[in-house]
Amino acid sequence: MRNPKPFRAPGILLTLLLAFSCQQEKKAPIAFAPTDLAAEALIPKPLEVSSSGGAFGLDQYSAIFSQGEAPAFEAVATFLSEKIGEKTGLHLQVNPTEDAAGDRNIFIMEDKDPSWAGQEAYRLKISPDSVLLSAATPEGAFRGIQTLRQLIPDVSVDTLAPQPLWPLAAGMIQDQPQFAYRGSMLDVARHFFSVEDVKKYIDLLAYYKINVLHLHLTDDQGWRIEIKSWPKLTEIGGSTEVGGESGGFYTQEDYKELVDYASQRYMTIVPEVDMPGHTNAASASYPFLNGNGKTPTLYEGTRVGFSTFDTRKDTVYAFVDDVVREISGLSPGPYFHIGGDESHVTKKDDYRYFVNRVEKIVRKYGKRMIGWDEVATADLDSSSIAQFWASEENAQKAIEKGMQVILSPAKKAYLDMQYDTLSRHGLHWAAYIPVDTAYVWTPENYAQGVPKELILGVEAPLWSETISNIGELEYLAFPRVIGYSELSWTPEDKRDWEDYKVRLGKQAPFLDRMNVKYYPSELIDWEKSKYTYETIQKD
Ligand code: ACM
Repeated sequence: MRNPKPFRAPGILLTLLLAFSCQQEKKAPIAFAPTDLAAEALIPKPLEVSSSGGAFGLDQYSAIFSQGEAPAFEAVATFLSEKIGEKTGLHLQVNPTEDAAGDRNIFIMEDKDPSWAGQEAYRLKISPDSVLLSAATPEGAFRGIQTLRQLIPDVSVDTLAPQPLWPLAAGMIQDQPQFAYRGSMLDVARHFFSVEDVKKYIDLLAYYKINVLHLHLTDDQGWRIEIKSWPKLTEIGGSTEVGGESGGFYTQEDYKELVDYASQRYMTIVPEVDMPGHTNAASASYPFLNGNGKTPTLYEGTRVGFSTFDTRKDTVYAFVDDVVREISGLSPGPYFHIGGDESHVTKKDDYRYFVNRVEKIVRKYGKRMIGWDEVATADLDSSSIAQFWASEENAQKAIEKGMQVILSPAKKAYLDMQYDTLSRHGLHWAAYIPVDTAYVWTPENYAQGVPKELILGVEAPLWSETISNIGELEYLAFPRVIGYSELSWTPEDKRDWEDYKVRLGKQAPFLDRMNVKYYPSELIDWEKSKYTYETIQKD
């Protein structure tokens, strides 16, 4: 039962490809206008693009063939077919029998050549009679189909053949990311966001090849994930949010649904339980956790730095062990984020003692610990990761321990910073971050003394004190998060603001079609879109 489908075996696939190519040669080529693959508005910009001038005409007769031992290659093909359907209305068959396939097809092929640079690398060869996408892994193929989706025009050409055609510029793309970790964080603690909202965010991020969604699941104002051994965390701690709204939480089933949804898009969810500070919601649920001996009440404001766990009580570590165990059991990804930021009322020695002990718990459950940069003041293992947000000194301490660093400098990468003084949402304690400022910086050498080899990647956090629904989330995240995808994927010598801003303007039809209420920055010449419905309000 290994290969029930006739077109999985490589030899047969190549034969099929040749057969289709020969058929195509008998027909007169379609007279597309000249194309230039290298000028297409791809984000993130691929590593190498060469144009060959012609075009592949995608139409209702095209089919998608997948080849590869892993059934996951067929799942990638099916995902592509669905996305092409949403954009064009075409219903492309996946791995049909030979007679059901047309002349011009898309082939997604596993290529085990050991020279691939990493598991996300892919190669795309577009010619008038076929599209060949090859990768060593389904993950690489998945990144490649995002490029393909971006290349399909929004509007068909209806005059060259009896049926509508979507011309794809011909040529070759060779691509791979510069950083393995390309993320965004969503704070679901200050305001809760539903499973549907998070799925929409995942879909949008995946289109730009972002591969990590870090969920900030707990804070002073709310505890958002069910812990079966400590049910009051969500019963009590999940009942509020900033501004006195009713909060909410993910059941473990909800959380698994998000993890699965993300993993189908080759995205890792990083769960964060912020401790020992930012813990008022936990201590309001179980007062023994509290470090100042009092029973706290629920908190709906936006102050930080006033709460702490009691770091010298063994029962606190039994609690943390249960939380890390349950969440790690739901999380196939390699990371567990312990927060560790702004523990202003925890004594320094207590803080270091706590982080050291919690790191061991995280490692016991098979995860790599991530913490905000303050954790580097503790005595950590080199496998742990510091997320640089504020202190270069802490980033330096992490480097000295041989730890990797994730770059999220608040002045450049915080999605909750306002664009300018007129922004409807957001804060500005770190900076105003207009769309150009968000893009024009160099993660590769931003933090002094942090060498590129120790940079795991870039993450753009979105804190939610000032946003409470998906439209407000989108206003702050888009378009800036698209730029962070390029900063983390594309090497510095290929990045250029003037070139990027033109490609960014061409994302408007996609964002409109996805009903994304992005901030229409005046720095960008946004492409007019056929999808601008009255329901889309971008003001
Ligand atoms: C942070 O912004 N407190 C990590």
